[in-house]
Amino acid sequence: MIGFIGSGQMARALAAGFIHQGGLLGEEICFTNPGDENAATFSAAVPGAKRLPDAAAVVQQAAHVWLAVKPQILPRVLPIVRGSFRQEQVVVSVVAGVTLAALLEGTQHAKIIRVSPSTPSLVGQGISILAAAPDVQAAERAHVVSLLKTVGSAWEVEERLIDPASGLTSCGPAFVMTIIEALADGAVRAGVPRAMANALVLELLTGSTELARQSPLHPAQLREQVASPAGSTMAGLAALEQGGLRAALSNAVVASAHRAAELGRLSPQT
Ligand SMILES: NC(=O)c1ccc[n+]([C@@H]2O[C@H](COP(=O)([O-])OP(=O)(O)OC[C@H]3O[C@@H](n4cnc5c(N)ncnc54)[C@H](OP(=O)(O)O)[C@@H]3O)[C@@H](O)[C@H]2O)c1
Repeated sequence: MIGFIGSGQMARALAAGFIHQGGLLGEEICFTNPGDENAATFSAAVPGAKRLPDAAAVVQQAAHVWLAVKPQILPRVLPIVRGSFRQEQVVVSVVAGVTLAALLEGTQHAKIIRVSPSTPSLVGQGISILAAAPDVQAAERAHVVSLLKTVGSAWEVEERLIDPASGLTSCGPAFVMTIIEALADGAVRAGVPRAMANALVLELLTGSTELARQSPLHPAQLREQVASPAGSTMAGLAALEQGGLRAALSNAVVASAHRAAELGRLSPQT
């Protein structure tokens, strides 16, 4: 049984992925969540999942306990579960910014894995960045990695890389959605009907990403291939430079990485 403490967006993306892509049954998942709205949305996405009254019940019933609350909420959850984990239980935290050291101290449990997941897990294309505490056995790590791989890719890293990488991978879907929206708006401004613009922008991103993936050329070289002298692409690229797109995107990743670390620090463990 896999138990979620907190059944908001991230828990839902992971649990729905585990059953749809990972072959887990809804009945193998339990969760607790104070609000009925998020609980109902979770139950609809993960049919068969069992709602439990509180975090203590999840710890009692689940072999793997996934902490999926906001960093600010964690100090309310930890006193309920501290010291009550069984020795063989694995605790997986997706709580942004909260370090393994803080989780070990806060739970009084040794087998902790810290993961920074992402919402494209819902469609099997999430990215999970993870690091495990020293007492987690290789087989236990491998089990969590294999679960995460059912919803996308899983990157085991040194813990110091989690916040920087998650500034790109966990927050990145929001950046990309903004880019999708802005490009479609541009097409509409240029005269393309809305529905067509929305569809074209998705095909554009998929095709360009696949080209970048398959080509041996650097993205800058691929960009040059499209941009002929005094042509329309050069005019568009000049507008992007004027708007500060590169700096804005690069700053967004750095700001998100810093904020994740800050939120973790703001979350005292008692
Ligand atoms: N969303 C992402 O893309 C993403 C990516 C990487 C990491 N994360 C991390 O994942 C964690 C969850 O994020 P989220 O986006 O899923 O947030 P969310 O949608 O707000 O979900 C958090 C859930 O925790 C529940 N909760 C509040 N107090 C609780 C308590 N005492 N016991 C149990 N559950 C409680 C909330 O219940 P209510 O329904 O009552 O509000 C809510 O459903 C965060 O730490 C976030 O940093 C998120």
